[in-house]
Amino acid sequence: MKPPVSVTITGAAGNIGYALVFRIAAGQMLGEDQPVILRLLEVPQAMTALGGVAMELEDCAFPLLHDVVLSDDPAIGFRDTNYAMLVGAKPRTKGMERKDLITENARIFSAQGKAINEHAARDIHVLVVGNPANTNTLIASANAPDINPANFTAMTRLDHNRAMAQIAAKTNHLVADVTRMTIWGNHSSTQYPDISHCLVDGKPVTDMVSMSWAIDHFTPTVQRRGAAIIDARGASSAASAADAAIDHMHSWILGTDEGDWVSMAIPSDGSYGIEPGLIYSFPVTCKDRSYEIVQGLEISDYSQEKMRKTEQELLDEREMIADLL
Ligand code: NAD
Ligand code: LMR
Repeated sequence: MKPPVSVTITGAAGNIGYALVFRIAAGQMLGEDQPVILRLLEVPQAMTALGGVAMELEDCAFPLLHDVVLSDDPAIGFRDTNYAMLVGAKPRTKGMERKDLITENARIFSAQGKAINEHAARDIHVLVVGNPANTNTLIASANAPDINPANFTAMTRLDHNRAMAQIAAKTNHLVADVTRMTIWGNHSSTQYPDISHCLVDGKPVTDMVSMSWAIDHFTPTVQRRGAAIIDARGASSAASAADAAIDHMHSWILGTDEGDWVSMAIPSDGSYGIEPGLIYSFPVTCKDRSYEIVQGLEISDYSQEKMRKTEQELLDEREMIADLL
């Protein structure tokens, strides 16, 4: 058995947290040979509920779960931690865009960035889930100057998975047959789900679906799926968000499949002309606990315009929180 690693989950008593912690403890994120210590961070008023989550974790008797630490103190929550999943933040409600949460949630991520800088393991891998996820990641990273910015990422894997599911349904294939999906940009309604390079059963999906279906149905369905779930459930996605968070970390740490890629929002290095430093979703391959942007993809004029639009939204969001950087 490997030595245990620590995984911090913020907002662990919330809806996504409840769908996440048991799967990590079961080994679904870091592998069935990787023992874990869960460090669950909450706000003081949620500590009683968090105690209930801890009792349930105990009652599962997970062989890989070596310890559970509960705290409302970021210094304890992030102490020497190897992985952090920053979920704890307010969710949007009906009629809101995710960026409407920016003022309320931004301060959480500046405080947690500072705590990570001070207390976490130097090679910590961070995934931000709390919305608006890309800009919150920028804030957390800017407040953790001693940690490599490349180790701060935001989640667009839910959008990636949603897009794969739509393509599988449309082409009467299994999701497992769909590869090389790409989400560009912001986890927002300006994101660009791009099927230009996507394959189904190894063949270009662009030969199987019409451009008008892609533009008029597929793209808005993926862009607005979060809002559709809020309308239907009266609460934002939780189980599918937790599932995507597990997928994101699993790919990052354990690697992507040969010949395929995944979407991750990461600090731009200027690839595809995107403003360096912005937390922008790119197609990436992962190996040995790090990622690389897929290079050399042909970008049509249509794609270029969509990629710029979502970049512009991220630039505008950055302006709004400039005082926290
Ligand atoms: P929730 O309200 O059910 O739970 C949030 C939890 O966070 C609560 O228990 C709250 O007490 C806790 N919390 C708040 N501030 C905290 C802090 N400073 N430190 C630690 N814990 C804190 O919400 P949820 O449904 O779990 O959603 C959480 C966030 O994830 C929201 O911002 C939501 O919009 C976002 N989200 C993102 C994606 C994505 O794809 N990136 C998907 C779904 C939801
Ligand atoms: C989602 O995509 O489901 C989440 O970001 C929640 C939301 O506000 O849409």
